[in-house]
Amino acid sequence: MTDTVFLNGDFLPADEACISVLDRGFMFGDGVYEVIPVYGGRLFRLEHHLDRLDHSLDGIRLENPLPHSRWQSVLEELVRYNGGGDQSLYLQVTRGPARRDHAFPRNVNPTVFAMSSPLAAPSPELHKGISAVTLEDIRWKLCNIKAIALLPNILLRQQALDQGSAEAIMTRDGEVTEGAAANIFMVRNGTVITPPKSNLLLPGITRDLVVELCAHHGLPCEERPIEAAELRDADELWVTSSTKEVVPVTRLDGVPVGNGRPGPVWERMVELYQAYKEAFRRGEVE
Ligand code: PDD
Repeated sequence: MTDTVFLNGDFLPADEACISVLDRGFMFGDGVYEVIPVYGGRLFRLEHHLDRLDHSLDGIRLENPLPHSRWQSVLEELVRYNGGGDQSLYLQVTRGPARRDHAFPRNVNPTVFAMSSPLAAPSPELHKGISAVTLEDIRWKLCNIKAIALLPNILLRQQALDQGSAEAIMTRDGEVTEGAAANIFMVRNGTVITPPKSNLLLPGITRDLVVELCAHHGLPCEERPIEAAELRDADELWVTSSTKEVVPVTRLDGVPVGNGRPGPVWERMVELYQAYKEAFRRGEVE
């Protein structure tokens, strides 16, 4: 069975959905996106994702083509078309099709696209810990925009994979920014630490939830810059994202992190995260 996708107002089979070769998303990477997890047919932290979409669109000076209420109904319908349950929703807005010219085109309709795929719970393998390498952050300076142009992230992720690691942890001017497709957390002497939000990293929805869970459950947590050199003394490192949740990094640059096994603070956080997800499935939290 082919998945159903949403394109410019219509729901249709993925293999029938077409866009113009002149679409500025295709030509220039001129667009933004979101990835939203769905648990038991419910969209997790939807308002946070739609608020971030607004910020990304503001950042590229494109008006949101749909109000939040319409986004919600479109995405919920798409989830139903694709069988409900647990899914990973992807949505993308580009500046639309126009004659190729760097300047913004006039009177162009943005392209609005959404698709979804099944979302499996993080595998036990992932929870044994991954290895990562530190690499220079070669991206632009508007990394808070969730832009579809991901070449630097792709190159860095691939470089990590080529070196036998699962993720690249990026550093800029001696400070840690984030992973190629995830935010970063360090635990040192029982304190959970993550870099503060800025134009140099994506304000992750999972990151925010982890910070929130720390606050609610009395885990000391600091949002402050992390020097690249501090990573070597970390007791624990984690990376967070909507699709993989909270993943322990147990080797960095070929060296064990802490004792080389997922740490106790990570275990506690995963418990809290899973409990929150289950409460969400039951409709007890938003
Ligand atoms: N990526 N930083 C970057 C560069 C990312 O690409 C992502 C997520 C995150 C984590 O954000 P969130 O917690 O909101 O998922 C941080 C998505 C999942 C992707 O590109 O597929």
